[in-house]
Amino acid sequence: MPGAQRKNMIQFESKPPPLDSVHSCSKKVIPIRVLILRDYQSLSERAAHVVAETVRANPWAVLGLATGSTPLGLYRELVRMAQEGRVDFSRVTTFNLDEYYPIKKENPQSYYYYMRQNFWEPAGIAPGSYHIPNGDPADVAAECRRYERKIKDAGGIDLQILGIGVNGHIGFNEPAEKLQAETHLVQLSEDTIIANSRFFEKAEDVPRHALTMGMGTIMKARRILLLASGESKAEAIRDTVKGSVTTMVPASLLQLHPRVTVMVDREAAKYLLG
Ligand code: PGA
Repeated sequence: MPGAQRKNMIQFESKPPPLDSVHSCSKKVIPIRVLILRDYQSLSERAAHVVAETVRANPWAVLGLATGSTPLGLYRELVRMAQEGRVDFSRVTTFNLDEYYPIKKENPQSYYYYMRQNFWEPAGIAPGSYHIPNGDPADVAAECRRYERKIKDAGGIDLQILGIGVNGHIGFNEPAEKLQAETHLVQLSEDTIIANSRFFEKAEDVPRHALTMGMGTIMKARRILLLASGESKAEAIRDTVKGSVTTMVPASLLQLHPRVTVMVDREAAKYLLG
C-alpha cells in the first residue's frame, strides 16, 4: 500500500496513562516533543497505546523495533493487548534496528532470540513478516545491502521505536566524528560493551561488533518514538533534546526529524525540568 494511503490517525482507544508534563524541549528548528510519565509502567503503557493505535489505523503498518531492557514493558503491554484481542499484529511488517555480530540467531543472547521470545511470537506477527539483520552472514556488506533494500521494498518504516544508550547512541550508531547513513557493520564502544555486559556472564562475552540500521535509515521513518527510563539516561536525554545537533550524540540528530516524540520517566527527565 503506498505511503500516502497509510497515513496514521493517532487516537487513543482508551484513556492513556496520565502525563506528568509535556515539553517542547528544543530551541532548534523543530522542537522535540517530550512526554514525561510518572514511572516505567506508565511509560510502557503510553508507548503501547501509540503503537496499538498506529496498527489499528493501518493494519499493514511497518514498525521499526528496538531491543534492550527499555522496550520490554512496551512489548509486555502489546502482547497482552494482542492476546486480549485488542490489537491485531498479523498483517504488520517489522524491522529491528540491529543485531550483534557475529552471533547465531539460536544464541539466547542474540536479538533475534530476544525478539522471538518477547514479541514476534507472543504478539502473533506472521512468520516472514519480521526482519532483523542476520548476525552471522557469509558476506557482511551484502547482508547490509539486503536489509536496506528490504526496508525500502516494504515502503519504509511508519513508526520507529528507539531506546537510547547512556552515550546517546540509537540503534548501534555510536558517537563518532562521522556517522553512516545506511545499514552497516559497527564496532561497539566501550560504554556500550560495559552497559550491555549485564546481559552476559562477563564483559568479555559481549560481541565487539554489530550490524545496525544507519542514521539515514532511522531518520527516514515517518514517525519516531524514543523511550528512556532511569537516571542513567538523564544526561543522554538532556543532550538529545536540549543540546547541539552533533554526531557525538547520535540521538541529537533527531532534532532534525519532523515527527519525534521522546517519552521518559521522571528519572530520565531529571535534567529537563527546572
Ligand atoms: P537499554 O538499551 O534499553 O537496555 O538501556 C538501550 C540502548 O542501548 O539503545
